[in-house]
Amino acid sequence: MKIAVAGTGYVGLSVALLLSQHNEVHALDIIPEKVEMLNDGKSPIVDKEITEFLDGNSTGSRPLNFQATLDPRQAYTGADYAVVATPTNYDSQKNYFDTSSVEAAIAAIREVNPTAWIVIKSTIPVGYTVDLRGKLQDDRLLFSPEFLREGHALYDNLHPSRVVVGAPQDDAEARRAAEGFADLLIHGAAEGEVDRINADGTSGIPRLVVGPTEAEAIKLFANTYLALRVAFFNELDTYAETRGLQTQEIIDGVCLDPRIRADYNNPSFGYGGYCLPKDTKQLLANYDQVPQNLISGIVDANRTRKDFIATEIEQKIKGVEDPVVGIYRLTMKSGSDNFRQSAIQGVMKRIKARGITVVVYEPTLNDPDFFGSKVTHDLEDFKKQSDVIVANRWNEDLVDVSHKVYTRDLFRRD
Ligand SMILES: NC(=O)c1ccc[n+]([C@@H]2O[C@H](COP(=O)([O-])OP(=O)(O)OC[C@H]3O[C@@H](n4cnc5c(N)ncnc54)[C@H](O)[C@@H]3O)[C@@H](O)[C@H]2O)c1
Repeated sequence: MKIAVAGTGYVGLSVALLLSQHNEVHALDIIPEKVEMLNDGKSPIVDKEITEFLDGNSTGSRPLNFQATLDPRQAYTGADYAVVATPTNYDSQKNYFDTSSVEAAIAAIREVNPTAWIVIKSTIPVGYTVDLRGKLQDDRLLFSPEFLREGHALYDNLHPSRVVVGAPQDDAEARRAAEGFADLLIHGAAEGEVDRINADGTSGIPRLVVGPTEAEAIKLFANTYLALRVAFFNELDTYAETRGLQTQEIIDGVCLDPRIRADYNNPSFGYGGYCLPKDTKQLLANYDQVPQNLISGIVDANRTRKDFIATEIEQKIKGVEDPVVGIYRLTMKSGSDNFRQSAIQGVMKRIKARGITVVVYEPTLNDPDFFGSKVTHDLEDFKKQSDVIVANRWNEDLVDVSHKVYTRDLFRRD
């Protein structure tokens, strides 16, 4: 089967490599450097499994049927399925996702291929697929939410928590195409996954073919729940800090309840990354005219948390003449190469707005300046210059200056 993938970011590349184990896959991007790297067998993103797959393909130990291209004709002509994995950034003017790259990719696919089943993997607003099917008079549009974590993008596709594909309940052909796409994803999963035993005692990879609007809602509600969890433990930490209590003791005691569990409970400067901030805001926008308190509370809680963290940092440098705040890494998680919408940037913005000098240590950033603050790759000089070192996640790099470090990474993980 021929499959095209539009967009070779975290989502597009991991889905393309997964499917290229058993299908002919052509992955299209609009950035020539990315296409060149991929065809040279190199990954444009830091991801262990993606690197292993590309290396294995180059050496012949894991042959894949995978080609990256800039040419829409090569990618889309004759494809049975075309997966769209382009960005949907949040547009703060419109208070809605900017879906223009999804529409551009769909237009490019349809120019050369009127019959491919187009599967949108980008995260989109609730109701988008049905609207677009009507607007374009195109019944061959499906939506399949993606649940991967950055840094584990291909791993999460090889070991999926579930596979969800959305197609209208009353369109038998689209339902069959959705079932077919779910089968392709499951066929690409790692050995043993189809017989695995799940926590609830069921076996195999849970496979849901649901309505497209329900599939869109699954994605936004799942991410909003994760954001809620982060915000909850952050707010617990704000309380404990303000009242002089040991956060860790409280969290340990709370999370020993098996209904609460101990994951996703490590305090941070706020939820961040590419998806949670924008997906929570999009879900809130979808609640238009629908009564709610929690969803707006989750969005507001993240803002309040960053305000609190900025104030705490300000307290640490009280009385210091011309203080310098050092930002240790812009990334969200330890081991990540990506700092899109990381919470520390929100904290940094607040500190700078209070007129305080900020210096950034970020080895992956080549520019000498980040939004008006000096960037250094010299860790020792960074440590010397900084009166307080702000780290969303702890790192052994900081052991010798631990007395200067401000972090809420109490469990020293994720
Ligand atoms: N990153 C995640 O953890 C994650 C998880 C689940 C869902 N998503 C969603 O998936 C989508 C993609 O996210 P990502 O992180 O992979 O993005 P990304 O920015 O890493 O990659 C997107 C790629 O699409 C390319 N592109 C842009 N316009 C294009 C076009 N018209 N045709 C072909 N390629 C085009 C870009 O050059 C880029 O390489 C977003 O909607 C995101 O919300 C992301």
